[in-house]
Amino acid sequence: MPSQIIYSENPQEDLLKFLKDKSDFGVIIVDENTKKHCLPFFEIFLTNSRKFYEPIVIKSGEENKTLDTCQYIWSEMTKHNLDRNSFVINLGGGVIGDMGGFCAATYKRGVSFIQIPTTLLSQVDASIGGKLGIDFDHYKNHIGVFKEPEAVIICFDFLKTLDPRELRSGFAEVIKHALIADVTAWNKIKGQSLSEQKWNEVIPHSVKIKSNITTEDPTEKGLRKVLNFGHTLGHAVESYFLEKGNRILHGEAIAIGMIMEAFLSAEKEYISKDELKEIETYILSIYGHVAIPTSAFEEILTHTLQDKKNEQGLVLFSLLKKIGEANYNIPINEILMKKSLTYYNSLTK
Ligand SMILES: NC(=O)c1ccc[n+]([C@@H]2O[C@H](COP(=O)([O-])OP(=O)(O)OC[C@H]3O[C@@H](n4cnc5c(N)ncnc54)[C@H](O)[C@@H]3O)[C@@H](O)[C@H]2O)c1
Ligand SMILES: [Zn+2]
Repeated sequence: MPSQIIYSENPQEDLLKFLKDKSDFGVIIVDENTKKHCLPFFEIFLTNSRKFYEPIVIKSGEENKTLDTCQYIWSEMTKHNLDRNSFVINLGGGVIGDMGGFCAATYKRGVSFIQIPTTLLSQVDASIGGKLGIDFDHYKNHIGVFKEPEAVIICFDFLKTLDPRELRSGFAEVIKHALIADVTAWNKIKGQSLSEQKWNEVIPHSVKIKSNITTEDPTEKGLRKVLNFGHTLGHAVESYFLEKGNRILHGEAIAIGMIMEAFLSAEKEYISKDELKEIETYILSIYGHVAIPTSAFEEILTHTLQDKKNEQGLVLFSLLKKIGEANYNIPINEILMKKSLTYYNSLTK
């Protein structure tokens, strides 16, 4: 069952309300950044509450979303004697939400957990829809489970300390949600720069889009795949830059992927050339252009072929049927994919 989503001006108070009926002990998981910037929002509560142990502090970053870190978290939970009635609070971005949620969902066959997402990406995307997990053997999110948290508490104030580049990265998922599901939202968003966005309107709306989709198809049998718009080529570009030691953020790669996949949508004549222009103009105004060497095309295509969405050598894409609506399982061949890379590169001129 989808969890309760609470928009909070005072996350401490809302958490307290939520926990008041709990008799058992819980633990809060943070990384060094959320310990510094977000944990102080809960300080009075934490120091006055005998329901909490010392926070479990892990190292920030995707490279720590591993089994080793899970072992540490599970050890700490065991050390504190957490039992089936205990609870876990994940205070952080998508890394903490995915990994802390996974640890909670598997510890003693599952203790309840609450997500308090602190990045834009985790507020509009990672904390919604019940996907939990960790990376394994260089495969992203390779080990995981589906389980909904008891609640998601979203507070816009956390975004104030977020690195602007991280904020911009998370915004790519906001753009994606509008493009795949809501033309009115798209028209609103595209009229404003990043700094002009009204988060108290944009975030709840974006959350609603994702949660409607994941409620209808919680385990990605079909419809949920529309959320992959921009992600097939976007992930491939992300992996390419990562391997070259020139990491770009997830949303920055998805911004590139959305332009390429909007191009594919236009090639398929789902959207018009004018709509393609409208999409690329706005995305480039926020993210600029990242040149991709022609010599990298083959490597990028190899990454898409490793994508989970393949069937018989063709790669299955989620494309725009029109602005505000998407379809999925659209087979695209290598020639067309290459054309989309060439098209993206041509946009600098
Ligand atoms: N479960 C899902 O459905 C889903 C969906 C999308 C992404 N994800 C996962 O989410 C992860 C990415 O999440 P992310 O972009 O939030 O990255 P992140 O969790 O790594 O956070 C980004 C950085 O911001 C810091 N930070 C977090 N909140 C802060 C704040 N309020 N102030 C200052 N610094 C802060 C973090 O310490 C980190 O350094 C990936 O692992 C991805 O796989 C999951
Ligand atoms: Zn994404």
